[in-house]
Amino acid sequence: MTPILLRAEGVEKRFDGIYALRNVDFTVRKGEIHALVGENGAGKSTLMKILCGVYSPDAGSIAMDGSRVEIRDPRQAQHLGISIVHQELSLFVNLTVADNIFSGALPTATPLRMVAKGALRRETRKILDEFGFDLDPFQPIAECGIAERQVVEICKALHRNARLLILDEPTSSLTPNEAGKLFAILRKLRAAGIAIVYISHRLEEIVDMADRVTVLKDGAVVAERLASDVGVQDLIRLMVGREINMSDYYGRRGAPQEEIVLEADNLTRKGMFEGVSFSLRKGEILGLSGLVGAGRTELALALFGALTPDSGSIRIRGRPAGIRSPRQALELKLAYLDEDRKNNSLFPEMSVRENFVVIDLKAGSRFGLMNFRRQAAETGEFVRRLNIQTSGPDQRIADLSGGNQQKVVIARLLAINPEILICDEPTRGIDVGAKREIYLLLSSLVAHGMSIILISSEMPEIIGMSHRVMALRNGRVSGFLGGAGVTEENIMRLAAGRAG
Ligand SMILES: Nc1ncnc2c1ncn2[C@@H]1O[C@H](COP(=O)(O)OP(=O)(O)OP(=O)(O)O)[C@@H](O)[C@H]1O
Ligand SMILES: [Mg+2]
Repeated sequence: MTPILLRAEGVEKRFDGIYALRNVDFTVRKGEIHALVGENGAGKSTLMKILCGVYSPDAGSIAMDGSRVEIRDPRQAQHLGISIVHQELSLFVNLTVADNIFSGALPTATPLRMVAKGALRRETRKILDEFGFDLDPFQPIAECGIAERQVVEICKALHRNARLLILDEPTSSLTPNEAGKLFAILRKLRAAGIAIVYISHRLEEIVDMADRVTVLKDGAVVAERLASDVGVQDLIRLMVGREINMSDYYGRRGAPQEEIVLEADNLTRKGMFEGVSFSLRKGEILGLSGLVGAGRTELALALFGALTPDSGSIRIRGRPAGIRSPRQALELKLAYLDEDRKNNSLFPEMSVRENFVVIDLKAGSRFGLMNFRRQAAETGEFVRRLNIQTSGPDQRIADLSGGNQQKVVIARLLAINPEILICDEPTRGIDVGAKREIYLLLSSLVAHGMSIILISSEMPEIIGMSHRVMALRNGRVSGFLGGAGVTEENIMRLAAGRAG
């Protein structure tokens, strides 16, 4: 084994008297990929924020290369060679790709600005090329998709000559293809002696990629193993404290009913999707498959009224519905769970309970605040069902762990009782136990007559949940699959146009 780069001993952290971390020992060796796993709220991000000087620990010590260090702020962490790609992306959306990668070290505010700009472009190209990503260095972040933004975050950390690179759920928004590219880079970095701490809820990935794994549960380390010694089931047992049977994941959906609740006819939006026609039945889960750029999210946005199609029509429950805004969609009981939860307008400074009330007002409820009591009751119900870890309904959203914030978004959307729900990557960033709860919940909702359009890049999710799958390729419907035809091979054939 390689020498130890970083050793944290006896680390403790409390928030409002509640332990987020207790007596944590954690070591990272030079040139290893060290995975950190645990349920939502287990303390993973908190531990990493301590290593990065964002939080200071209440107790414990940290040593780098055998000597004790005080990491008082992020600048100092950076100086020590510790860099993090945060779970919540933190890019400046109004700046370009290059400006973001070099932010903090910009060689610009000089008379030589033009020269610097050329150098900036070259340097940025070099870093981007290492990833094999075709991004324009001067593209504004606002025009980058979520996968591209993630890549920029990683480039930014690499640019800082990190010796210890921390990735907090780097792949949750990447496609399998992009994730593969990232893994190749991480292996290269490992070979160059850089240590990597890797947080992910995708346990298969961990078992494949990591050298060692540390498991956190309720703020304490419950295991540290060689990755080669553990399987996915072992990790689940260590994280959750019990086994989860993969086969009871999807619950009982029942069969779709005859009634058609949504019908799209020839929807077209130039450059995004073309001639898209399909119908959705009551109680049906329609999976929407396709590669990135196939037009899935754009189509979802059009159905939700956030994007206006050039031509074509939508009927809801048999009636023509000219949905021109999300508000109208919500009035028709059509809701959309956004791929990028940040845009899903949680109010981070408000409490969990207040966030529930707000969406009800947005949904155009005439009773508004009078529904407060019912909302409060429902908040509690969903908090319980989705196992959302809060100190209570009055906890600030900003203080929840990343996964728990996402659960709030889902719960809040379900609380408005939509009849048609479009879910874009519903389980991104959600731990294995809560995933199961979400699948069971969605299954029982469709069994009670809700209809769902499911967009997901996780094959088992699409295959396990969908009654039918519609595949998109280059903005056009490339085919439908149903029943036993819903297989990974068939989906890939339709989505990627691969023969066979
Ligand atoms: N600033 C804060 N104020 C109050 N509580 C906090 C704060 N930051 C984190 N916590 C709490 O500490 C606990 C651990 O949170 P943390 O974000 O470390 O979890 P995590 O393991 O990263 O989870 P996830 O997988 O959901 O990202 C949670 O209960 C969370 O609510
Ligand atoms: Mg986290």
